[in-house]
Amino acid sequence: MTTSRRSAAWFAATGRAGMNHRSWMRSQGFTSEVFDGRPVIGIATTWSELAPCNVHLHRVAESVKRGVWQAGGFPLEFPAMALGETLLRPTAMLYRNLLAMEAEELIRANPLDGVVLLSGCDKTTPGLLMAAASVGLPAVMVTGGPKLNGKYQGTDVGSGTAVWRWEEDLLAGRMTQEECAFAEGCMSRSDGHCMTMGTASTMASMAEALGMQLPYSASWPAVDSRRYETAQRAGQVIVDLVAHDVTPAQIMTREAFENAIRVNAAIGGSTNAVVHLLAIAGRLGVPLALDDFDTLIRDVPTLVNLQPSGKYLMEDFCYAGGLPAVMRELGGLLHGDALTVTRKTVAQNVADAPCWNRDVIMPIDQPFQPAGTGTAVLRGNLAPDGAVIKQSAASPHLLKHRGRALVFDSPEAYHAVAADQDLDVDEDTVLVIRYCGPKGYPGMPETANVPLPAKLLKRGVRDLVRICDGRMSGTAYGTVVLHVAPEAAAGGTLALVRTGDWITLDVPARTLSLDVPDDELATRRAAWTPPPPAAARGWTWLYTQHVQQADTGCDLDFLIGGSGSAVGRDSH
Ligand code: FES
Repeated sequence: MTTSRRSAAWFAATGRAGMNHRSWMRSQGFTSEVFDGRPVIGIATTWSELAPCNVHLHRVAESVKRGVWQAGGFPLEFPAMALGETLLRPTAMLYRNLLAMEAEELIRANPLDGVVLLSGCDKTTPGLLMAAASVGLPAVMVTGGPKLNGKYQGTDVGSGTAVWRWEEDLLAGRMTQEECAFAEGCMSRSDGHCMTMGTASTMASMAEALGMQLPYSASWPAVDSRRYETAQRAGQVIVDLVAHDVTPAQIMTREAFENAIRVNAAIGGSTNAVVHLLAIAGRLGVPLALDDFDTLIRDVPTLVNLQPSGKYLMEDFCYAGGLPAVMRELGGLLHGDALTVTRKTVAQNVADAPCWNRDVIMPIDQPFQPAGTGTAVLRGNLAPDGAVIKQSAASPHLLKHRGRALVFDSPEAYHAVAADQDLDVDEDTVLVIRYCGPKGYPGMPETANVPLPAKLLKRGVRDLVRICDGRMSGTAYGTVVLHVAPEAAAGGTLALVRTGDWITLDVPARTLSLDVPDDELATRRAAWTPPPPAAARGWTWLYTQHVQQADTGCDLDFLIGGSGSAVGRDSH
């Protein structure tokens, strides 16, 4: 029996402690050979019936186990907090750091030599990557894959993106409640996460672009047999990574993050990737700044024609060649020598990746959208620490705009009057929705892309400049300025805006300004009082006391960095 592995500290121990560790495990029917020094592989699964996008992950875990056994390892599945985006209140983002903290502690405290991370719904992917980064044991991610394309009345409909449209159709009387109820079932017709290029598909792609999951892993549909093949392969791969002691820090380098940011621009990915990649980098000590999300993509065109920016869905993306085809097309724009979990480089992984449909994945010399139309980072007195806008989802005529503010202190306050035909609003109005940041709501929900006032919808207005310290769903669209930092609840200038103030948005110049003199702002600041804490105890209290602002990734201040895999005393 070798004693070189981390797990040997538990299973190779002699005396009472060793007997305790082995005997209780044998109650599951394992023979004594599993304690012979083979690598013990944890499978962290975020399965739950309350997280419908992840509900099949217990089956994916069975395929991972097959691969681990095949490669000579000992797989042990364990649950990690499942975050279901559509059910959790007030928002799943409030719990991303709790998942990261829970998974980090479980990985470290148990006799594991490596870990496979099973995720799917939006926050589960970054949460598990943050955990693995802070522990530093070899890790491979397997995302659960997207749903099959939604099908309604002969057309493909995308998760989330269709709902925004149906909501407007319902408000405008173009759809009945019964038609909406039928359409719901047509949109979500298989296992898997949202099949638009929303946050889940984006973060699955980010995990692949970072090198943390196998090529093609992001795009196989959840119900495709190759999803399960890939999971089995991941089981083999993690044993290999343990054997060669390849850690997340060796894979998720600054170059890997630069690759991910560029790939995100090429796929028209979600703005949520900004906060999540910043948080993961923070765990690793990789220098990454908000401005990198602007400067690194100015020469990267959007190649992928997927909703919400384009036409197709993830199933089409898979059949067209998936992420390897995009990464091959990006060629020299990526760091080809970055290491991945295959123990090969990015360039080696994608060297022969074919593209089967040029209408879905376009060539770099004939892109879907030209370079520089991805995420822009704005600054100015209204966002001294930055704000972001997804240019490809915005209306070109609003990218340079000056209008009067109409201010709401919560999305609920806006929704209460959105249908009011007497609302003092026109197509030049700038809607300000505030107190939606990490501390303010709390949890920084996806409330920025509020629907337009019914009065304007009736007049055929389709977009309006909206400014918010919250986030926007990756499935949404519109001229929406997000992630304003500092947020209103932290005393940012956003808290000082009054209805009727002039606001100037100039995306080409990367500025966002409140046109109010400094002395007037100082007077307003002196009169401002912070809102009361969102909670007096528990997780929400801890979160609001320690959460960082959006420009650095919304991690908790005491979770930034890592503690490694060492554990101290054994009380058994
Ligand atoms: Fe789970 Fe969209 S709601 S991925």
